[in-house]
This record gives sequence, structure tokens and C-alpha cells, in this order.
Amino acid sequence: MTDRPTVLSGIQPSGDLHLGNYLGAVRHWVAGQELSDSLFCIVNLHAITVSQPPEELRQKTVELAAMYMACGIDPKTSLIFVQSEVPAHAELAWLLTCMTPMGWLERMTQYKDKTAGKRGERLGAGILMYPVLMAADILLYQADEVPVGDDQRQHLELARDLAMRFNHAFGDTFTVPTARIPPPEAGGRIMSLVNPEQKMSKSQPEGCVFLNDPPELTRRKIMRAQTDSAASFSLAQAGPGIRNLLGIYSGVTSMSFADAVSLFEGKGYGAIKASVADAVVAAVAPIQEAYRALMAEPEALEEMLRAGAQRARERADATLAVAYDNTGLLPPKSKWQGNG
Ligand code: TYM
Repeated sequence: MTDRPTVLSGIQPSGDLHLGNYLGAVRHWVAGQELSDSLFCIVNLHAITVSQPPEELRQKTVELAAMYMACGIDPKTSLIFVQSEVPAHAELAWLLTCMTPMGWLERMTQYKDKTAGKRGERLGAGILMYPVLMAADILLYQADEVPVGDDQRQHLELARDLAMRFNHAFGDTFTVPTARIPPPEAGGRIMSLVNPEQKMSKSQPEGCVFLNDPPELTRRKIMRAQTDSAASFSLAQAGPGIRNLLGIYSGVTSMSFADAVSLFEGKGYGAIKASVADAVVAAVAPIQEAYRALMAEPEALEEMLRAGAQRARERADATLAVAYDNTGLLPPKSKWQGNG
């Protein structure tokens, strides 16, 4: 169809977009969209692996679509759609589930972290099956590249393994995707501001800058960021907290990490934090403005999502039909069902 690579990625609408999502994923989606055939999904079926209040889930789904666009995803260039609008995701996930060894899933680090110390009676099985659904998201569109943060590395390995396993068992069906993960200091792993040993995550909001935080709150969070006790910055002695701040600075200004290091070498930590805060506030201001404008026109957003889902369904259904056929299931539109 095209010689541009097919790129697919997604984010769960289970909270607000934060700097980790932006610097680890969305910024790179925006940078690559002109040169690729890109699809960006709002993965609401992933979000329900933990319980979500229905009204909030609906609202966050639309908000995330607006955020994708506010960050620079152009729906004329890239396809934006909601996962649950394309039934083939759940259907392919079942095919893949049946050929995924349980041990592979039980060994996933995120699964182990999320279930540690919890009793099985209280956990939905979706937590275990989650990476298979993610593989289905990717394989349905024959994605060549999947731009994600470092925390998704193991899930991408599984998607590759499943593609190869399926192709081996049933003949060439899926493209084997490649993960595109930025190095940690180029945004691949943005750390929590209150605990730089842990990744920035919405589950720890004090250590997390949300793109929609008001400027004063963003400044306060960054000024309070945990750093080591040195008086001035020197890369040789820098701990993870100050390195993380420099990574954030380099991400939001598009300056290389090395240039950011030279800029701040010898400067005091208070001054560095103030510069990082200024840079983050300046970078998110236009995003917040665009977001407000998009949210003021909900019909246009819904129309964009409707059109996106339609196009995504066509592409996904074509792959699913081949996967069904190769597996020995009657293809979804076969004459056996009376509508082929
Ligand atoms: P999710 O919703 O947790 O995160 C969305 C994206 O943000 C990246 N990210 C980070 N990057 C750097 N530093 C951080 N602190 C940080 N926190 C989050 C994530 O790596 C991700 O790229 N399973 C996925 C969603 C998904 C998906 C897919 C992704 C479902 N299907 C298909 C790609 C392709 C997830 O939960 O991401």
C-alpha cells in the first residue's frame, strides 16, 4: 500500500496524560507521523482491567482523544481511534490467548508487580491477559514499529513472540513488530519527582506533572523534586533526581541531554529547578490552550473518532479475516454465515 512504516501505539484512558507519557511516547509519535502510516489508539479495553467508574471512563476517553490532538497528532495524517469501537481487537486477542503459554504471562514483571501481595480472589483475570490484548492491538494493523516508553519493553517482546509463534503454526499472517523505545535520558523512562528510583506514574500524583496541571502546581512539584544534597550540578556526581530533571528539560526544549548538561554544569540546584519549571510550563501552555479549544467542540471530536473507528475497522477486519481463515475458523464474512 505504501512504503512508509506502519506505526501503532496507544495509551490507557485511565487518568490524565503526564510528562512521562508525553516525553516517553506522544512526543515521538508527533515527530514521526509525517514519515509513517500512523495509528494511535485510546486503549479503553486495557483501562477496564482495573475497575473504572463508567461515566469517568467515557469522559477520559474523549479527553485523551483531545489530548492526542492538542499534543500535535493530526487526524488528517494519523488515524486516531478508540479500541472498543473496533471489535476485532477482542476477537484477535482470543485467538492469541489460546496460543499463549500461561508461563509467559505469569513471568511478566508488570503482572508480578501489580499482583504482589494481593489475593487472587480480588484480581480480575484481565491483569494476566492484558499483554495478549496489547499484542492483538499491534498485530491487527501489521505494525512495523511501536513507539513506547521503556516500561512496555517486555510487552513488546511478547507481541513479537506471539507474531512469530502464530506465523510458524499457521503460515505468514502477521508482521513482526519492532519496539521504538527512546533511551532513558531522552524520555524513555521519566522518573517520579518525589522518588527518582520509581517511574513517574499517575498512581503517585505528587511526583507526577500532568499536562493539564496549572502552572503554579507544575512549578511547585518541580521545585520540590527530590535531588541529592550537592550545592551545584556536576554530571560526575549527579544522582538520579537531578538527572531526571535534566532529562525532562532536554525533552521539553528538544535540546540534547549533553547540551543540557553543559548548560547547567556548575549551576545551583535551585536555579536549575526554576529553569526546568519555566521550560515545562512554556512547553505545556500551547498544549493546554489547544486542549481547551478542542474540548469546547465535542461534536467535532466525536466525528473525528467516528471516522477514525470506521477506517480502523476496515483495516483490522481484513487482518482478522486472514487470521481466522489460517486458523481454520470460518472467515467472518464467509458464505457459511449467509452474508458473503
Ligand atoms: P500506558 O497507558 O501506561 O502509558 C502510555 C505510554 O506512556 C509511556 N510511559 C512512560 N514513558 C516514560 N516514562 C514514564 N514514566 C512513562 N509512563 C508511561 C508508556 O511506556 C506508554 O508508551 N500497555 C500500554 C498501552 C497499550 C499499547 C498498546 C501501547 C495498549 N495497547 C499497543 C502500544 C501498542 C500502557 O499501559 O501504556
